Amino acid sequence: MDHQFDYLVIGSGIAGLSFALKAARTGSVAIVTKKDKIESSTNYAQGGIASVLAPDDSFQLHIQDTLNSGDGLCHPDVVERVVLSGPDRIKELIELGVVFNTGRSQDGSPDLGREGGHSRNRIVHAQDLTGRAVEKVLIAQAESNPNITIFENHLVLDLITEHHQVKAGVLTMSQQDVCRGAYVLDCESREVRTFVAHAVLLCTGGAGKVYLYTSNPDVATGDGLAIAYRAGARLANLEFVQFHPTCLYHPTAKNFLISEAVRGEGARLIDRRGRAFMEFYHPLKDLAFRDVVARAIDTEMKKTGDDCVFLDITHRDAGFLKERFPNIYEKCLTFGIDITRDPIPVVPAAHYMCGGILTDKYGQSTIQNLYAIGECACTGLHGANRLASNSLLEAMVYAHEASIHCAAHLEEWRRRDLPDIPCESVRPCTNSDPLQSEMILIAHNWDIMRRLMWNYVGIVRTDKRLALARTHIAQIRMEIREHMPNIPLSSDLIELQNLALVAELIISCAMQRKESRGLHYNLDHLQKDDAHWLRDTIVYRNQSDELLCVDSSSI
Ligand code: SIN
Repeated sequence: MDHQFDYLVIGSGIAGLSFALKAARTGSVAIVTKKDKIESSTNYAQGGIASVLAPDDSFQLHIQDTLNSGDGLCHPDVVERVVLSGPDRIKELIELGVVFNTGRSQDGSPDLGREGGHSRNRIVHAQDLTGRAVEKVLIAQAESNPNITIFENHLVLDLITEHHQVKAGVLTMSQQDVCRGAYVLDCESREVRTFVAHAVLLCTGGAGKVYLYTSNPDVATGDGLAIAYRAGARLANLEFVQFHPTCLYHPTAKNFLISEAVRGEGARLIDRRGRAFMEFYHPLKDLAFRDVVARAIDTEMKKTGDDCVFLDITHRDAGFLKERFPNIYEKCLTFGIDITRDPIPVVPAAHYMCGGILTDKYGQSTIQNLYAIGECACTGLHGANRLASNSLLEAMVYAHEASIHCAAHLEEWRRRDLPDIPCESVRPCTNSDPLQSEMILIAHNWDIMRRLMWNYVGIVRTDKRLALARTHIAQIRMEIREHMPNIPLSSDLIELQNLALVAELIISCAMQRKESRGLHYNLDHLQKDDAHWLRDTIVYRNQSDELLCVDSSSI
C-alpha cells in the first residue's frame, strides 16, 4: 500500500473538511481532492445556511417548511435531528472564525435572509459569498492541523472493499462488504496509489455536470455516486434533481447563480414584456418552492419562445444591493448588466442532487466503514425537493454525527489488520501520448450526454423521453467501455465514465417513479400517487454486475 491513515476523506467541501477537523481529534486523516482544495461546490454557495435563530422562528416551523418542500418523502426523524442541531453547528463555525453578516440587528446577532419555501427569515449568510467564507476558514483550520494531510490533484478511481479483495484472492468473503480504502490517481505523476484506512468518507458533492446547464463548478461530476455504486452500495432517489430557477443567462457566463436570496429581498420574475408571472403559478409567488418556480419559468419560456426570463430587483436601493450582493453585482457588471438598473436575464439550471448514496443516521452507507456526507448522500432530509439552504446545514450535521460514530469505533477498528493491498485490479496507466489517441471520444460523448440529459431528463419528463435517454446513454457507456483501454487514464476520462454511469442511474430511478412528485415531473403521470410511491427509489449493482432497481418497500 502507498498510504495508510485512520480516516480517508474524499472531497474538500464543507462535508469533508468539517468531518476531518472533528476526526483529527482521534486519528490521522487524509483528505483527497481531485483539483485545488478550494475547488468545491461549497466555495460557490451563495445563499447561506438555514437555522432557527430568530425570536419569531421555531424548530417546528423549520421542520414543517422542510417537510412541505420534500413533498411527502422526507424522513421526519432525520428532519427533526438536522433542524435541532442547526444552532450548535452555526455556533461552531463562528467559533472557528467564520464571520456572518450581522447587518440589520443592533445586538450582533446574525442578519437572517429569506429564501423560497421558508416561512421565516432564517438564512445565516456572509453577504452573497457564504460558502467561500466557510470554505476558507475550514481550509485554514485543516492546513494547520498536524493530524490532517491534504492531497490535491488526486482523483479517486474506485473503492477497495473486502469483496473486491476476495476476487483478488487476498481475503475470505464476509457477509456485508467492508470498505478498506481507495485506489487514487495522482493526476500530476499519473500514477495510481492505494490509500488504506479504517473508515472512508465520501464527501464528493453533486453531479450537476451531467446536465448541459448547471450552477455547479466543473468538479461536480458525480464521482462519489459512481464509485459507491460500483462498489455495491445502495443509492436512492436520484430522479430528484433540483433545478435552480435563476442562473445568469448570458452567452459567455458559465455556471453563475443568481441567489434565491435576491428574491428573498423582493426581486420578481418577469417576462420580456415586463409582466410578473409567478402569481399565476403559486400563492407564494416568487418565493414558492424551487420545483414550482423552475417549472413556471420553463412553461413561460416554452409559451413565449423566449430564451430566458428576467429577475427584477431594480426597485431596491442601489447602495443596499451593492452591499448585500457584492458578488452578484460585480459579476453581472462584467457582462454589462447593472442589477441596480437592469432586470437580470435568468434561466433554470441543474443545481442540486437530492438523492444519493443511501445512509443511516450516522452517515453510514450500506457498505461497512464507508460513509457518505453532504450532497452525495441521501439521508432522508430533502425528500423529493430540498428546501433552500438546508444543504450546508445537512453536511455539517452529518459530519458531526459521523465523527462521533467513528470515534466510538476507532479503537476496535485499529485492532483489525489493514490488508496490504496490491494495485492489480486497476488497469495500469499508459504513457501514450494523448494526442495520438482518440481524445475526441471524450469530448464528443461528454457533449451529447449533457444535452441529452437536459432535453430528455430535465425539468419536464415523459416516459418516451426517458426511454430514449436510456437507449442513448447505454450506447455512450458501451462506447466508453470499448475505447477506454486505448485512451490514457486521465481525469477527463474517469469523470466522463462516472457521469455516464450517474446519468444511467438517474434515468433508472426516474423510470421507476410512475408519478409526479417534487422535482420529478412526468407528463405521462401527472398525479401524485401516495398509494404506491410514498417511498424511495433505490438502485444498486449486484455481484454479477447487473443494475438492480428496487423500491424501499421491498427491502
Ligand atoms: C441560492 O443562493 O439560491 C442557493 C442556495 C441553495 O441552493 O441552498
